[in-house]
Amino acid sequence: MTPDRLRQYLEFYRDLGVGDLYRREARVAAAAPEPPPPPVRIEVELPPMAPTAETLLQILEDIGDCQRCRLHEGRNKLVFGVGNERSPLVFVGEGPGADEDEQGIPFVGRAGQLLTQMIENTARKEGMPLRREDVYICNVVKCRPPQNRTPEPDEMEICGQFLYRQLSTIRPKAICALGGTAARAVTGHKEGVTKMRGRWFQWRDIPVLVTYHPSYLLRPYNQTAKREAWEDLKKVLHFVYD
Ligand code: URA
Repeated sequence: MTPDRLRQYLEFYRDLGVGDLYRREARVAAAAPEPPPPPVRIEVELPPMAPTAETLLQILEDIGDCQRCRLHEGRNKLVFGVGNERSPLVFVGEGPGADEDEQGIPFVGRAGQLLTQMIENTARKEGMPLRREDVYICNVVKCRPPQNRTPEPDEMEICGQFLYRQLSTIRPKAICALGGTAARAVTGHKEGVTKMRGRWFQWRDIPVLVTYHPSYLLRPYNQTAKREAWEDLKKVLHFVYD
């Protein structure tokens, strides 16, 4: 492997948040060819770089009956993602709730219905005939955390590789991060959501707009946050579809 290729691999995996790579000793051929190779050569053994042509189906197959972290213990259905694989806009939430865990589809409970309304109503008002199924919707973690608790850092790291592969495959024009957990996971910034909302960040070279999580908007007395979320949505829709 050339040093350039190796650098590419390492950068790719660093972007995915993978820090540890195995090293193994290369086997020495029994009959040494001419000129004889050095007796022992150290190679870096790399997980296969997610091919750019990887499909969402391949990622789903790779997840399989995932037991990579403790979240699998309480899950009914793994919630991978839904929508248009070629969408220029991807919404990322935190993790499935009870309804999503039951159906295997993200954002189908109360928060999900609000998200659907927000997307479709805002788009219609702005003169864009956009339906929920036109965008892609997924979460940072694919299995429901017990009692809907916030996913733990190790759970997000383990599952985050699949989110990153989904984003690498779709390569949307923009990503909308819903709530603080998604915002921090996607952007790497550690500020609170009230500081981050309405602002552009980046995931690799893709712009990320942060807004409130719809379940936060469902709480009473959140009129200001609701107005701000509508503003955020308009911003990202115009950026993507104008
Ligand atoms: N909240 C999320 O973050 N994701 C869902 O899929 C549902 C609720």
